[in-house]
Amino acid sequence: MEKIRIHGNQNLRLKGKVRISGAKNAVLPAITASLLTKDKIRLKNIPLVEDVHTILTLMKELGANYNIKKNSLSIQVKKIQSEQASYDLVQAMRASILVLGPLLARYGKAIVALPGGCAIGSRPIDLHIHGLEKLGARISLEHGYIQAEANKLHGAEIEFEKKTVGGTENLIMAACLALGETVLKNCAREPEISNLCDLLIKMGAKIDGIGEETIRIKGVRELGGATHEIIPDRIEAGTFLVASALTRGNIVLTNIKPDQLDTVIEKLKYSGTQIEKLNNHSLRVVGSEEIRPQDITTSPYPGFPTDMQAQFIVMMTQASGTSIITETIFDRRFSHINELLRLGANIEVSGDKAIVKGKTPLSGAETIASDLRASASLVLAGLIANGETIVTEVEHLDRGYEKLESKLKSLGAKIERIKE
Ligand code: EPZ
Repeated sequence: MEKIRIHGNQNLRLKGKVRISGAKNAVLPAITASLLTKDKIRLKNIPLVEDVHTILTLMKELGANYNIKKNSLSIQVKKIQSEQASYDLVQAMRASILVLGPLLARYGKAIVALPGGCAIGSRPIDLHIHGLEKLGARISLEHGYIQAEANKLHGAEIEFEKKTVGGTENLIMAACLALGETVLKNCAREPEISNLCDLLIKMGAKIDGIGEETIRIKGVRELGGATHEIIPDRIEAGTFLVASALTRGNIVLTNIKPDQLDTVIEKLKYSGTQIEKLNNHSLRVVGSEEIRPQDITTSPYPGFPTDMQAQFIVMMTQASGTSIITETIFDRRFSHINELLRLGANIEVSGDKAIVKGKTPLSGAETIASDLRASASLVLAGLIANGETIVTEVEHLDRGYEKLESKLKSLGAKIERIKE
């Protein structure tokens, strides 16, 4: 079992330059989009993270051939060999559900395990299913699996009851090969969805309204191959912005799209962090001596990302006053708080709110990671906690961060991965 050991202290100042990797949440749907064509898809700037290996294992079972060279992937599904996404893979990664739409569109059949809950909530997929049924799929839930069939999907008008990133992605991919036009309303607007649409258009899809709440897709007979660049990971970038703010550091982030971080940047600036846009793909972030407390509420893009909530809570433990963090997206996304309390944080949870009192000095301790962003928040806390912090179960971290500890070490953190 691997662990991460951090020797933290209040006087750490991160300094230097860090290159942000490609976005996990963009590369996963881009990979499943390759099911929509028999031609080759080439993806550049992919992050080498665990979730990519997991989705490629699933894709191989479905009939994909692929190879990875450094941070580029070429993948091709000449013929679909199987339509089944087994429970062990879906349980390992909920995003496996993103094969459902493409399989139905190209192959007319899909058997995908129902994703169980996970550390951040129940995470149903009812919106995916209702949308696909409107496109003509016949779906039943048997023995823990989604059994889906469709002779030929047809266009429809679908309004999502609530914004869903994965649901929007599944429906866009399915509609690309449906007969006629599909209108999707109340779509999620995350940049990763727009990045997927850019790929689909290169493959020959007809999509209007990219990045908007209403997206129109005109189905085409078939899609072809394409070469595509995965956007930088805005959540990894946000994690490093907080790391610099937290340690009153001075770091430059490269290979990022600053405009995708507007809300996070605005909140950091409000708390006193200086952030300077150096050009269209890099930022300098300088932490302030004093961190101003503030209330944050997570919401769908372009609002404050739920995937930045845990990291921000750590920052607010060092603010001079009380902050209230409200989590509106997931029903159980405070599991990191119990671990932060063990480091000495002063946080009270009441319903969907975390009341964070600062400034509270933290002291190092052994902690257990529960999900991807919770584990990132424990690493951040370890940077400024006095003494040694151990983060166990780092497989959660490895799902979505490429070489996090070596990037932090290059900025001056005393951090290492230990095998025990
Ligand atoms: C995506 O998850 C991201 N994952 C998540 O990032 C991110 O937190 C989330 O969007 C919200 O931004 C990927 O893109 C791979 P949703 P997704 O469908 O698509 C409810 C990370 O750390 N809902 O937008 O699964 C759901 O329960 C991960 O990188 C339904 O009720 O999220 C949640 O409360 C964590 N029915 C809300 O909608 C449905 O059919 C948003 O979920 C679907 C979702």
